[in-house]
Amino acid sequence: MKRITIAIAGIGGVGRKVAELLFMRQGRYARDYGVNLCLVAACGSRTGKACADGLAADDLDQLIPGLCGPDFLLGENPDILIEAGPTDIRTGQPGLDYIQRALKQGVHTIVISKGALVVSGNEIRESAAYSGAILKVSGATAAALPAIDLLEYSLMGCEIHSIEGILNATTNYLLSAMSERSLSLDEALQEAQQLGMAESDPRKDIEGWDTAAKLLILANFGLGASLSLDDFVVEGIQHITVQTITELRAGGKVPKLIGRVTQKGGVFRASVGIEPIPADDVFALVTGHDKALRVRTDKMGEIISIARSSEPTATAAAALKDLELILREIS
Ligand SMILES: NC(=O)c1ccc[n+]([C@@H]2O[C@H](COP(=O)([O-])OP(=O)(O)OC[C@H]3O[C@@H](n4cnc5c(N)ncnc54)[C@H](OP(=O)(O)O)[C@@H]3O)[C@@H](O)[C@H]2O)c1
Repeated sequence: MKRITIAIAGIGGVGRKVAELLFMRQGRYARDYGVNLCLVAACGSRTGKACADGLAADDLDQLIPGLCGPDFLLGENPDILIEAGPTDIRTGQPGLDYIQRALKQGVHTIVISKGALVVSGNEIRESAAYSGAILKVSGATAAALPAIDLLEYSLMGCEIHSIEGILNATTNYLLSAMSERSLSLDEALQEAQQLGMAESDPRKDIEGWDTAAKLLILANFGLGASLSLDDFVVEGIQHITVQTITELRAGGKVPKLIGRVTQKGGVFRASVGIEPIPADDVFALVTGHDKALRVRTDKMGEIISIARSSEPTATAAAALKDLELILREIS
């Protein structure tokens, strides 16, 4: 049986779920793809572990200080890198170094963090094209929400006029709480933080930058655009009040944070902002931490996908969907 080796950069909430599912699914990969899949290395920011014969699940609870970084991880010569480190949309690090190093080394790469793809998407695509390594980005493009696959596969043969989405679960939860229970933004945020649904520093969600980052990756990787964040007009939800929402609702509208990219004659326009959505539009029914994407095409009309789950397990499953797409090609 062919042996395929995996390395994981970033063993936090998502990285650990990736490893857990990998261990659980080893039998399935053997049966469906005829491969013996081995996790040979994993690391966080300061600790890690490697074993050429394959790590076991409990190895991840006994990481060794000092074993980390691209040299350590890629020194194990994995066939596939799964990158699940933190997202920094200003520098692209730490993911950028792992991803570029892997692709240049010809290692197939599954990216879950957004930073590197936002900051250096073109260079990353060039590295993959040059070495022939396969690059997959489902985890970085709203994960459990079918998004990049729609653009790359399902809607092939169409011209895509626009993509618009409710792509940030935190802001959608906050707007829903404000609309349905008349909470102030601060009260809704406090609640979301207590429930672990908002980060202690929620600015990149609330100010719209997380939505912009996902949309940028979708447009650049799915539509062949070359957008940077500077091309986006971005407004978040930080200024919305319960009074504005009440007035909108009286007029049969609900507020949603919408990211939109339109394409006309090869020219792309991109924005993020609150939009009043008619109560009978399907986007009005996308509440709580649901996410949704609407794609308008020339030949297949309008396609909508909606996802209910934004848990780390769902993100890990999206990354492992990418893994199976790679296994189909290489096994
Ligand atoms: N949570 C979700 O459901 C979800 C959904 C879609 C996308 N994502 C993306 O997935 C990524 C991971 O999310 P998460 O929730 O798992 O975050 P997390 O729990 O904060 O985990 C991040 C991991 O990255 C590690 N790390 C930090 N610097 C590193 C470095 N220089 N080299 C190697 N590892 C490093 C951390 O290690 P230490 O613990 O040692 O610091 C930690 O293990 C993020 O980019 C996030 O945007 C998450």
